[in-house]
Amino acid sequence: MTQKQTVMSDRDMKSSQDLWGGRFAEPTDAFVQRFTASEGFDRQLAGYDVAGSRAHANMLAKAGVLTEQENNLIQQGLTDVLGEIERGEFEWRVDREDVHMNIEARLTELIGDTGKKLHTGRSRNDQVATDLRLYLRAEIDAAMAELTRLQSGIVLLASKHADTIMPGFTHLQVAQPVTFGHHLLAWNEMLERDHGRLVDCRRRLNVSPLGAAALAGTTFPIDRDATAAALGFDAATRNSLDSVADRDFAIEFCAAAALIMSHLSRISEELILWTSAQFGFVRLPDRFCTGSSIMPQKKNPDVPELVRGKSGRATGNLVALLTLMKSQPLAYNKDNQEDKEALFDTVSTVRDCLRAFADMVPAIEPNEEAMRQAALEGFSTATDLADYLVRAGIPFRDAHEVVGKAVAHCVASHCDLSDLSLTDLQGFHSAIQEDVFDVLTLEGSVLARNHFGGTSPERVREAAAAAADALTARQAPGE
Ligand code: ARG
Repeated sequence: MTQKQTVMSDRDMKSSQDLWGGRFAEPTDAFVQRFTASEGFDRQLAGYDVAGSRAHANMLAKAGVLTEQENNLIQQGLTDVLGEIERGEFEWRVDREDVHMNIEARLTELIGDTGKKLHTGRSRNDQVATDLRLYLRAEIDAAMAELTRLQSGIVLLASKHADTIMPGFTHLQVAQPVTFGHHLLAWNEMLERDHGRLVDCRRRLNVSPLGAAALAGTTFPIDRDATAAALGFDAATRNSLDSVADRDFAIEFCAAAALIMSHLSRISEELILWTSAQFGFVRLPDRFCTGSSIMPQKKNPDVPELVRGKSGRATGNLVALLTLMKSQPLAYNKDNQEDKEALFDTVSTVRDCLRAFADMVPAIEPNEEAMRQAALEGFSTATDLADYLVRAGIPFRDAHEVVGKAVAHCVASHCDLSDLSLTDLQGFHSAIQEDVFDVLTLEGSVLARNHFGGTSPERVREAAAAAADALTARQAPGE
């Protein structure tokens, strides 16, 4: 009998080598040990790993696989291990490879041989899939709460600015006047869909892989519904192979997160433009900005700039996970260990960016006069003049041409359409009457767009109230 084949006592169980060493003729190469280890990053799953182990051991005891006494010992041991981790006293060991084996080995050190029974009827494959789902579920809940906080701030600001007029842009050229409240509610629509995607992703991920074991299930009389219920899952997964093989739930979250980041990046871009001296539409409170070490006059919109920059990570992590998954044969492969850093990075990026935005966006200070002035320049009511001519019976294409000529005239003489006299305007078309000036004003322009989804103050007030109600309903208990 070689050294390897000797039965070891729990005190001897020091490293992963001791967890599977029975089959091995030589120890793992030191570099390979570091290369294959994940404890450096997956340790943040510790709380979920312990929760999964508790549910598993309780279920094994109910099924008669563990005695009550053994289960009690395991539960107490897990409490002690978690205590060490939370107090920062836990010794994380790279030779124990990952969070699962670190915890199990420490449990065995603390409670003796009974600790070795915990892994009955499960595998790290269903364990890690369970941990990740539990982790991501909690993170999605946190992200949704921040998203709701951000949306609430935006909607409140929108309701205060239902009458504030600004230029609406296409191609970043002044297009038509809109209300600032309407623009803010457009942001809210983007974020509302983002929230819906998180709800959807959470619903699909909330199933329990526990019991799939390595890939084929287990020979023990396990109760998968019991562990699923204990961990707050809606059900147990239906296929053991799929349970340990797929990370589509993480990819789905990363896709939803990449869209959130893309939306935050677009909003950032607007804030960066709007805070520039050239636009001057809004002021960001100083606490969200930094200065320059050389140019004393500078106040830089660092928060939106960083958020815009960080959106690249979210896209990168999504592509990394899609690529990680795409060629793997069923069932589990070690490739999947690579899912964590990308997922963790997206989770923390989205969490931090949403938090910064939820703090900052409601605090932006619009400069109503600058917005109005910008809307007055750039012929933003030209379409209103064309629509006026259409109402007088002129086909739209002809009206478009007439107004185009009037605008060209104004460009040449450095004035606005509303600066032209009635006689000047009639020179472009005889159908134009005194009432044309009602449609050439900014107020006339936004008031006229009074249909569902339009920019008129009345509609914006209505939309802001509906959005606020939807957010309140979302936060209501039991939602
Ligand atoms: N650390 C591993 C991971 O993150 C846990 C599962 C390992 N399973 C295995 N059969 N080697 O995926």
